[in-house]
Amino acid sequence: MSISIKTEQDLVELRIAARLGAELLDYLTPFVKPGITTKEIDRLAHEYTVKVQGGIPAPLNYAPPGYTPYPASICTSVNHVVCHGIPNDRALKDGDVVNIDVTVIKNGWHGDTSRMFLVGKVPPHVERLCRITYEAMWHGIQQVRPGAHLGDIGHAIQTFAEAAGYSVVREFCGHGIGRKFHEDPQVLHYGRPGTLEELRPGMVFTIEPMINAGRREIREMPDGWTIVTKDRSLSAQWEHMVLVTPTGYEVLTVSTGTPAPPAFVGAAQAA
Ligand code: MF3
Ligand code: CO
Ligand code: CO
Repeated sequence: MSISIKTEQDLVELRIAARLGAELLDYLTPFVKPGITTKEIDRLAHEYTVKVQGGIPAPLNYAPPGYTPYPASICTSVNHVVCHGIPNDRALKDGDVVNIDVTVIKNGWHGDTSRMFLVGKVPPHVERLCRITYEAMWHGIQQVRPGAHLGDIGHAIQTFAEAAGYSVVREFCGHGIGRKFHEDPQVLHYGRPGTLEELRPGMVFTIEPMINAGRREIREMPDGWTIVTKDRSLSAQWEHMVLVTPTGYEVLTVSTGTPAPPAFVGAAQAA
């Protein structure tokens, strides 16, 4: 495994791409209402990325080995869809939850982030899954500092999510990111403290836990992309890009609309 260390110059570019990802989610937020289709959200995202941000939507035609080219500019994963949901013509309805996952390429650098959106009024158990998943991501982020290990991140996420009665998807993970969309390391959202790679300043990776209300098993749909829970239970996901700094971490995917960190995150740390 070879994990790239970003230089200060690299980070200037990467921070820009990451901010554009977050700003794209800010732009989409007011449109995520009952009645809109995910295909309409995809079209809005494509236009904004290309025409306003001068960027390229990384998902469009993305084709890792063994996959057919991804047919849209964002992923929209509704309710029991875990990840990689392809935008379609079904309108969002009151009570749905949707993860919107965007990746903007700017000057060759990637900005990858996702948030959960609550459509209209959602039942308390749905709101709880989204909130606990957000907190799980932040428990992972809080582990990030030089000398910590990737296993510390996975362990923090897994123990928190499972204590809340939920399960952690195993088949998809966070990833290093930079000039490449997906690079080393893999960032598992479960694991044991002190195991796997040691973190060093200049590493940048995503933390993007997928948490299911029911069992952790998943199924791939015949489209070759959409991943759903096998038991059709609800699934939630949040994603940030995180830099290992000399003293801790810096979240790169920030914008004016980025949700505040949970109360348990120290104000000084969350910068
Ligand atoms: N944005 C996703 C991630 O967080 C990857 C989506 S790949 C796509 O890694 F092709 F489905 F867009
Ligand atoms: Co993503
Ligand atoms: Co990602």
